[in-house]
Amino acid sequence: MDVLRWENRQLLLLDQTLLPHRTEYLTCTHYRDVAEAISLLRVRGAPAIGVAAAYGYALAAFNYQEDRGGSLEDYLKKATRELGDTRSTAVNLRWALEQMDRAYRTVKDKPLDEVREHLLEAARGIHMDELRLEKRIADFGSSLIPKRARILTYCNTGALATAGWGTALGIVRTAHDQGKDIEVYVSETRPVLQGARLTAWELQQAGIPYKLITDNMAGYLFRQNEVDLVLLGADRIAANGDFANKIGTYNLAVLANFHDCPFYVAAPSSTIDLKIDTGEEIPIEMRDPQEVRTVRGHLITIEGCPVLNPSFDVTPHQLVSAFITEKGVIKPPYDLVKIFAEEGADR
Ligand code: MRU
Repeated sequence: MDVLRWENRQLLLLDQTLLPHRTEYLTCTHYRDVAEAISLLRVRGAPAIGVAAAYGYALAAFNYQEDRGGSLEDYLKKATRELGDTRSTAVNLRWALEQMDRAYRTVKDKPLDEVREHLLEAARGIHMDELRLEKRIADFGSSLIPKRARILTYCNTGALATAGWGTALGIVRTAHDQGKDIEVYVSETRPVLQGARLTAWELQQAGIPYKLITDNMAGYLFRQNEVDLVLLGADRIAANGDFANKIGTYNLAVLANFHDCPFYVAAPSSTIDLKIDTGEEIPIEMRDPQEVRTVRGHLITIEGCPVLNPSFDVTPHQLVSAFITEKGVIKPPYDLVKIFAEEGADR
């Protein structure tokens, strides 16, 4: 099942807020539909929002009407701002919009139809490239998975969160396809339950054994020696290896460290932000308090009670056993500038 698909000048997005109980596509005919879908988490996961934003940019070129006055360039700038402002932590969003802007610059003086087709091709290129890199990440990552492994994962890092294969969950899929005996512990991932709703759904569909746990059960599992490794994704990785991921990731990193358990982070280079030195500089998206007061729309506390809702936390690089990227498995000490800027990305 496609997570996102371009069809007849429209972007179709599998609405992730309805999963696992309903599978419905949202039709985006305007770039603002894409922006809204990203902010409401209808499409979510760092690589997936990058790809969606790229198509959103292309859609803006189709939405542009010459006869309304104003230049295409200004219109695309406005679309870039609106798409880019939807979510602040995952750097893939900004990365994809920068790629699209670069693609635009190469054809800006061509006739409008040509510009549109070129931008659509650029968005498709980003989509297919990300997918190819995810498969490489999965191949590298599966070499770290023992023949028999109990893996703790967090949030959702599968096909839904990416260009179509997955990062951390893509590794699990590949290792399972290789015949490894894997069981996945899926943390439900409050407040919006990406683990319970999305990861459980993906694993169920793939026939990979899993058990759902509430987030506060992880410590119990470590104490029982039930976890062989932790494997999860990232939304932004700083040059020194500090990284942001779904709120609650840091708790797991501390637990894994205390229990001498490998803690692996899988992500493509579009998640790496070499412009920032450390995790201190990663902006943390604060979301609607209603996400905490409610579970799937049901109020579970006092109406209007004070709430804190940071959507991500930052884990220091010292707690990461290895990063799994399209360049291979990167072990400490982390010098990501050397690997990703000096050698160049494999794109
Ligand atoms: O708020 P979300 O659902 O977009 O957060 C997603 C995550 O935190 C994922 O772990 C991360 O994007 C990696 S996805 C391959």
